[in-house]
Amino acid sequence: MIFLETERLLFRSHEPQDENDFVQMHTDLEVRRYAGNRAWPIDEALRRFRNGYVGRPDETYGLWATVLKEEQKYIGACGLAFPPNQPAPALGYYIARPYWGRGLASEASLAFLEVGFGRLGLPRILADVEKGHGASEHILQKFGFQFVSHEGFPATGRVICLYELLRKDWEANK
Ligand SMILES: CC(C)(COP(=O)(O)OP(=O)(O)OC[C@H]1O[C@@H](n2cnc3c(N)ncnc32)[C@H](O)[C@@H]1OP(=O)(O)O)[C@@H](O)C(=O)NCCC(=O)NCCS
Repeated sequence: MIFLETERLLFRSHEPQDENDFVQMHTDLEVRRYAGNRAWPIDEALRRFRNGYVGRPDETYGLWATVLKEEQKYIGACGLAFPPNQPAPALGYYIARPYWGRGLASEASLAFLEVGFGRLGLPRILADVEKGHGASEHILQKFGFQFVSHEGFPATGRVICLYELLRKDWEANK
């Protein structure tokens, strides 16, 4: 199912042929540095893909397979995630390393914020990011997200920061 398109990107449900590109992305430590700081072993990446990604998302929420249209290539997963224990949907983005630095996560973010505040009428959208993740913090600040709180995890030394963007602020700054 195709959910959304931008100038360069298409967002659709994950399909079986995405498996290799998905595995390559999540077995790359640089991609997972601020998402647990652990590259997934190949068998774990395969299991997660087959059990949790193929055919998903299938409606509004979740991280959509992100395809670079000009190469017809799976380059990541982006969207609004809304797990049951979360107070509001959260913006998420994963882009494969060869495609970093081309404005693709920003293009995806803009598209999903427009869907969230426009089509879905959400009052706020969250995002969480590990402290020190410069690129991700920069993207959130660029779109007007405000810092809300942080939580430290002494066992790993990680600090996760919660940000939010309110629809009224989004609309005021458009
Ligand atoms: C974070 C990530 C999505 C960024 O994707 P991207 O397509 O390279 O991002 P963009 O090119 O749209 O934007 C990056 C911006 O951050 C800036 N930036 C890059 N590295 C930076 C750093 N260390 N500190 C501050 N800003 C930085 C870029 O200059 C760019 O700014 P601009 O839009 O003003 O030009 C990508 O690196 C990624 O997938 N990382 C691994 C997964 C991950 O960490 N996801 C986020 C979890 S919170």
